[in-house]
Order: sequence, then structure tokens, then C-alpha cells
Amino acid sequence: MGQSFMMNPYGCKDAHSLNGKWNAIIDLYSRGEPMKFYQNRKPEKKSQFIEYTFDGGLRLDVPGDFNSQIPELKYYEGNVWYQRFFEAKKSLGNRQFIYFAGVSYEAAVWLNGKEIGRHEGGFTPFQFDVTEHLVDGKNDLIVLVNNNRRVDGIPAMNFDWWNYGGILRDVFFIDRPSTHVHDYKVQLKKGESKIIAGYVQLRGATSPQKVQLTINELGIQQVLTTNTQGYVAFEIPATPELWSPQSPRIYDISIAVGHDRVSDEIGFRTIEVKGADILLNGKSVFLKGINFHEEIPQRKGRAYSEADAAMIISEVKALGCNFVRTAHYPQNEHIVRVAEKAGLMIWEEIPLWQGIEFSNPAILKKAETMLREMVYRDKNRAGVIIWSVANETSPSDYRDQTLTDLVSLTRSLDDTRLVSAAFDNMRYNKETSTFYIKDKVSEVVDVVGMNKYMGWYNPFRDEPKNIKWDVATDKPLIMSEFGGEALYGQRGPADVAHHWSEDYQETIYRQNYRMFENIPNLRGTSPWVLFDFRSPYRCHQTYQNGWNRKGLISDKGQRKKAWQVVKDFYEKR
Ligand code: GCU
Repeated sequence: MGQSFMMNPYGCKDAHSLNGKWNAIIDLYSRGEPMKFYQNRKPEKKSQFIEYTFDGGLRLDVPGDFNSQIPELKYYEGNVWYQRFFEAKKSLGNRQFIYFAGVSYEAAVWLNGKEIGRHEGGFTPFQFDVTEHLVDGKNDLIVLVNNNRRVDGIPAMNFDWWNYGGILRDVFFIDRPSTHVHDYKVQLKKGESKIIAGYVQLRGATSPQKVQLTINELGIQQVLTTNTQGYVAFEIPATPELWSPQSPRIYDISIAVGHDRVSDEIGFRTIEVKGADILLNGKSVFLKGINFHEEIPQRKGRAYSEADAAMIISEVKALGCNFVRTAHYPQNEHIVRVAEKAGLMIWEEIPLWQGIEFSNPAILKKAETMLREMVYRDKNRAGVIIWSVANETSPSDYRDQTLTDLVSLTRSLDDTRLVSAAFDNMRYNKETSTFYIKDKVSEVVDVVGMNKYMGWYNPFRDEPKNIKWDVATDKPLIMSEFGGEALYGQRGPADVAHHWSEDYQETIYRQNYRMFENIPNLRGTSPWVLFDFRSPYRCHQTYQNGWNRKGLISDKGQRKKAWQVVKDFYEKR
């Protein structure tokens, strides 16, 4: 479970894309492993036949979910086999890897008929060292993907988004010198704005190595010497222009050892909590946010490319946001990088989403792996300011302990960012019209996320202006989800919910914004959700038809009336 992987293939000159059309076999009855599809055999004798072949059949785009590629796969949950050849030249002494940016939900990978590894988790990268099994010339790469939901999965059996399966994200063949840069962190030292600190971890080093860290615009060409395990930590005085939404300054950095070199684009900023304030670069900030899924509604499929990221982020910016919650899982690296360059602060989370079997010890292990892989991948992204460990989980001894452990693990992996979780279990005292919370996990996070659908799932039981909030007032509170549904173009009375009208959705936003004025520690809002998105949860045959209609924008890109209410609210902040 969980493979460590190299940092940032996008900045590695030796990373060669394996994207494109792959051959595929739909294996509904899981016949492929018993029949050894991974050997990709051909008949050798006249009397012989092989009852499978990858040739001349289904071809699927990689990256991309398979559900949206052919109508027969719209609801498919099960095994799909992918196969492609690629040419390689074995450079003597080098190490070769296959890197997957994301495969949902589980992957098993073979090269030239040899199993090279397996990975569980649909939203974080992994890679396998294939040096021993690579041949000069044509190599046969086969991947078995399974997207069955599972009781001990993360997410588990039910979740309010489409269960897209497939090789969802980029794939690379990487050919590296035997001693190469495997991991690095280059950020401001915690609590400092004039010291760049971090580390470099090489792979393949057996003696101290000279590593060059270069940030030309800061006059840094630092030669560092690693220990015999290839590790070196550093602190370098510098005065970088700080990254912020107003000025999302990033610097070209490179790290080189011998013939190996990795480049990246890194921003520097500080983020901290002080009482009920969130301080970005020492100044209190209000998070003008929005939630979105990793989906292009017009294509009815997963977002995966830089162009997809640019489309989503352009709508985020049009709304006047400075913050995004990439719900409910680590989204692809293009989205994180494009958001960061657009000056957006980011809340990233692992998909511990309702209905999790916390009593199963395997869950903590899987959640830890996903958390490690998320932090590992994005620890150099200045835009990421919050790591979140869960969404709407119900208090219990198992859940409280698991989440408390995950909060501690997050801090041990990265003490420079804030840790949060989204809660929906606040309580209401009707005598005093006051919301409050009793939840052990809300006491251990830095920032509390509140998901509350007043006016939709929960009718207002008093005038919004009379409703008070006394929730975790010792720390910042973000309304991490709120809103309601509307079918674009549907009109109706502004006080009737069951018409799915834009007019009622607009009312919900106006009422919630009035209530938010009474939250003393409110430091951010993030409406649910930017676009209508696909979900098997949503079965109203007139208004939903498999779509969650809480979008401010329809599945065809049309802005609803509530969009303007949010835009105006942010313009006034
Ligand atoms: C929940 C959940 C979302 C879901 C939303 C809704 O708060 O976090 O994933 O889509 O509510 O019901 O629309």
C-alpha cells in the first residue's frame, strides 16, 4: 500500500509522457488475473487459441476516467485492463520508473509480464522502479484498474460524487541517473519570512554528495553536502517577495546532483493562526472561497489537464475568490499549481467522507498513506495553506481517536500549514437561537470548517439576524459548505424550496450571509459549490437526473442568480 514517488515529474527533464490512446479490456467478471491478461500472450501453435487480446478492440484515452468515454461505461464499477507499448533505451547505471499521477480506485501494474506493484487510493500519485524488468526497445505496460466501492475504502460505499474509474491522470516513464533527487522541501522556515529552509533527499547515494540548490532571482546558488544517505537539511537567509493573492510571486528553483536536475516553481509565504485570526504573511485574511469537484460538467467527466484546470480556476477568479476548497480529495497537480499561480489559497483534504468504518484498523493505515502522499506531493505549494483530515464524520471513540491521530500525523509531516476538518454536527439551542459544537476533534484542529445548509436541509428556525453562533470561538471558523439547489432557468416563489428555483437559491444565500454577520470568529466562507456536478445520490427525475444542482453555475456553464449574490458579498469584503 502506498509507494513513495519522486517529486514533480513536471519539472524533471527525464520524465517522458505515456499519455495517449491505450488498448483496453472491460473485465466485468474479473477473469483477467486468472487468465493472466498481464502476459499479453499470442497463440504459438495452430491448435492453440488465447481467449483474450488487447489488439483491435476498445481504446481509451489516458489520462481520463473511462465512465465518460463510452456510453456503456457510464455507470461501470469493476475491472478495466489498460495496455500500451513504449520504446525505451536502458541507459547503463540509470534507474527507470513508471509514475502515475492518479488511478482510481486501485491499480495493479505489470511490465513485460512481471508484476511491479499495486496502489490503493484514487487521488494521489505513486511510482514503481522498473529497472529490473525494462528491456531495450519495445516494452509492454499493462495496468489493471478497479473502481469498485468498498466498505473498507476511503471513500467508502456511498459518496455524493460520481465514482469515476480509470487512469485519471498523467503517466510518465522516467529514466534517472542512479543517484538522483528523490524528494525536497523548499519553503520559508516556520514563523520566519527571511529564512528559506528545507531539505533534499537523494536516492542512490552511498557517500556524501554535492547538491546545488539554485534560486537565481534571490542570488542563491548554494552547494550543499549530503550525508551518506543522501540527505541534507538547509537554512538560507533570503528576502523573497512573499506570495499572496494580490501578488502570487513564485520563483524558479532547481536542484541538481551530478547529471540529475529537477526544477520547480515555488512561492514563499507564512501562514499561522493567532486567536480567531488567520494571518497570511502576518496580516489577518478573510478567505473568500468556493468548493469544486475535479470534474468538467460539460464533458461529464473528470478534469485532468492544465486546460481543464485553467477553465475551472478562471470561473473561481471571476467569482472574486481568493480561496478554494478542492473537495473532497487531493485534486490533480495541474489544478493545485494553476490555482497557486492565480493567487488562490487552497484547502486540500483526503476523502474521509461520511460513512467511514473507523472501527476497522485498516482505515487508519489507509488514511495515513493518503495523507502522507498528499502532503508529500504538495508540501512545496505556497498556495496550500490548510490540510484537512475529514469531512462530516460522526463522533465516536474510534473516529475521534483516528482523526486525532491524523491531525498529529499531519503536523509531524508539515508544521508550516494549518490543520482542519469539516464538521456538520453542530447543535442548536432553540431557547437562545444559538449554534454550538461538542466534538473532541474540533478542539485539536487549528481551524474549524462548518458545513451547514440553513434554508436547504435545515429550515431557519428563527430570523437569520437572530441566530447566533458560539462555535469554537477561540479559533478561526470557516463556513466550509452552505447553499442549496436550483435548476438553471427554473423560476419560482423566492420562499419555496421544492421548485428548485434560482429565486429560492438566491434567497438561501441572502439569508445565510445575514446569519454569518453574527459569527464572531468567521474568517472565511466557501459556498457549496461552483458547478453542478454528477452524483448517483441525486434522483429527482425533474430537477436532478443524477446531478447535484447546488452549483452557482449549471452543468452547461450558465451562471445562476445566486452567483451574483456571492460575487457581491466578496466584493464588499
Ligand atoms: C455535504 C457533503 C458534500 C455534499 C453536500 C450536498 O455537506 O460534504 O459532499 O455534496 O453536502 O449534500 O450537496
